[in-house]
Amino acid sequence: MQHPITAETNVAGTNPYIDIPQAPKPTSPYTLILRMDGNEHTLTVDPSQIPYGRSGQPGSILDICEGYDLALEHTCGGVCACATCHVIVRDGLSTCNEATDDELDQLEEAPGIALSSRLGCQCVPNGSSKVVIVEVPGWNRNAVKETPH
Ligand code: FES
Repeated sequence: MQHPITAETNVAGTNPYIDIPQAPKPTSPYTLILRMDGNEHTLTVDPSQIPYGRSGQPGSILDICEGYDLALEHTCGGVCACATCHVIVRDGLSTCNEATDDELDQLEEAPGIALSSRLGCQCVPNGSSKVVIVEVPGWNRNAVKETPH
């Protein structure tokens, strides 16, 4: 039996062991400011473009990064199984979906966790704040790639 392709199912992969987060999508454009690699990227998030890519929850920080060709690490493909997409939400956290227990469990694996830490693949701002500010911790970048095998 074929399953219909929807915004929720048109992702690079799914993780059958986690609960899919309940994440209201934005209904009007908002600005996402992404601080990464010493640069600040100001992104306009257009609800009509969601999902931007195929990784992470539709409308998530990771999804938006894919749409803007910004390389946020996502070793597990955005299915809440690695924590390499760790971000810190500096402003607008209250407008993001609540982290699931599965997300919180994965976050415990991330170095330098903060009170406003989230997984970029699971964190979906609802757009009710006109500006959301997110920081990608420097030590999070390429952490997996630099680990000797
Ligand atoms: S990409 Fe693996 S947990 Fe987000």
